[in-house]
Amino acid sequence: MPIRHFLQFNDFNQQEHLHVFERARIIKDRFKRYQPYQPMADRTLAMVFEKASTRTRVSFEAGTYQMGGSVIALSTGDSQLGRSEPIEDTAQVISRMVDLVMIRTFEQTRIERFAKCSRVPVINGLTNEYHPCQILADIFTYIEHRGSIKGRVVAWIGDSNNVCNTWLQAAEILDFTVNVSTPPGYEVEPERANLHSAGNYREFADPLDACRGVDLVTTDVWTSMGFETEDAARRADFANWCVDAEMMAVASPDALFMHCLPAHRGEEVSADVIDGPQSVVWDEAENRLHVQKALMEFLLFGEIRD
Ligand code: CP
Ligand code: NVA
Repeated sequence: MPIRHFLQFNDFNQQEHLHVFERARIIKDRFKRYQPYQPMADRTLAMVFEKASTRTRVSFEAGTYQMGGSVIALSTGDSQLGRSEPIEDTAQVISRMVDLVMIRTFEQTRIERFAKCSRVPVINGLTNEYHPCQILADIFTYIEHRGSIKGRVVAWIGDSNNVCNTWLQAAEILDFTVNVSTPPGYEVEPERANLHSAGNYREFADPLDACRGVDLVTTDVWTSMGFETEDAARRADFANWCVDAEMMAVASPDALFMHCLPAHRGEEVSADVIDGPQSVVWDEAENRLHVQKALMEFLLFGEIRD
């Protein structure tokens, strides 16, 4: 089987994504009933963190152990990456010793360079440009609560960052629409998002207009990891892009609220929204575990049907 990587959401086609969602459902259901499922016996995942993480680290690590595998976690500071060993050499070495690699890093080109020299599948655990594992979990969560996302409308409020770019790729592949509202100067960059057309998103100057009638409202921090020097300017520029009760009130009455977390209550989202009845943020976080098990299964073994 040729090696497949998951570096961007659009590395998989619609049928492959639907397969992963269905496997996540089955794997989650078995897990909840304490039925062991250990296809990763004798398999090892290496995780490379060049940025901080809570959810990604715990979900990949717990998920791999639960599937019978082993995990090695490296960070820049405790590996030779921090002492300028080329990423290509690191890839050659690590991929001769493990079966799967997950990387969280800065530029997308860095994970692409790693993947080019890797003998095993590479998973994007977040880059400056994309966060595909997050959107797998978010869409799986949407399906669990409301059914297919096809034809639905999602409002993205805030920064056109890695999570936003991935929502836009997902909209093209799974056939839904994203209403995007960013402050001036932070608009979607279609090339950076690697979109094929502008057909699956609409831009709104006023965040309230972006939320009207939508099925899901979602947002993320104003300042992503790696952009900390812009924090003061961003706090001023994003002040009107806080998802609050007024925005949720104009969305569809059964709209959900999502946030990839970590969240800053009172900045990108008000406490009454993130802690309110429409919020599914804890399901979203938990589902990282289940969808990533399905993802690792797919990358290691292809389409399993049982
Ligand atoms: N949402 C997410 O990726 O969280 P962490 O940064 O904690 O991994
Ligand atoms: N956009 C955020 C997501 C964190 C999970 C960041 O890149 O920091």
